[in-house]
Amino acid sequence: MPSKCRVSASLLSANFLKLGDEIRATEAAGTDSFHLDVMDNHLAPNLSYGPPVIQWIRSATQLPLEVHLMIDNPHLFVADYAKAGADLLFFHIECYAAEPVNPLAIREIPRATTQPDIPQILAVIDQIKQLGVKAGITLNPNSPLTPALKPAILASDAVLIMSVNPGFSGQKFIADVLPKITEMRTYYQGDIHIDGGITNETAPLARQAGVSTLISASYLYSSADYKSAIQSLNLVSH
Ligand code: DX5
Ligand code: ZN
Repeated sequence: MPSKCRVSASLLSANFLKLGDEIRATEAAGTDSFHLDVMDNHLAPNLSYGPPVIQWIRSATQLPLEVHLMIDNPHLFVADYAKAGADLLFFHIECYAAEPVNPLAIREIPRATTQPDIPQILAVIDQIKQLGVKAGITLNPNSPLTPALKPAILASDAVLIMSVNPGFSGQKFIADVLPKITEMRTYYQGDIHIDGGITNETAPLARQAGVSTLISASYLYSSADYKSAIQSLNLVSH
């Protein structure tokens, strides 16, 4: 089992009516960073929030802000998120894929790619780094870890492995993604994040596979005690 994982609090399940209080409480409970989910009703079948809200969040905490861009054409928008205060920007490889996309099937067929456009992905990683922000790629559950992806992974400051299809918090953990993490760990020493369905039950599986950051939304924000919830993600067994 690897050493203690970082925990990143996904504000998607926080109470937005009292967001400042939620941020302070999560910080006091020991979160290492905040994970901010941005969705556009295209890459993910949901809408969340964008740069103005992130700017307010930035003013409320000194902790790192990791922005998970579940949006199409992220290269057109990364500068806005850098300006809003992101420390790390994750974008999806599924945005730069050879496979055609049927926008009308967005709810039924989660995006996946076996043929990512590596030069384009490398260019976006570089674009983000040029903005002075850390950059990372994200893989949906059905996108395999192909050998072609290795240069993009090695160029990433962090990698995000989705363990649910993007769009909503509170979904069931997809354990089938764990071998991708184990395989990636054989050549990547950077920060591997896992996102979706993380609880005290699933966190040990993810840690065993080799992740270094656990993202949690519903498990954390539905708990009565944020500190215990955060600590429980690093417990040895259940
Ligand atoms: C899902 C988001 C996740 C989500 C996680 O599309 O990317 O960050 O908030 O929620 P839980 O932890 O409830 O699965
Ligand atoms: Zn996320």
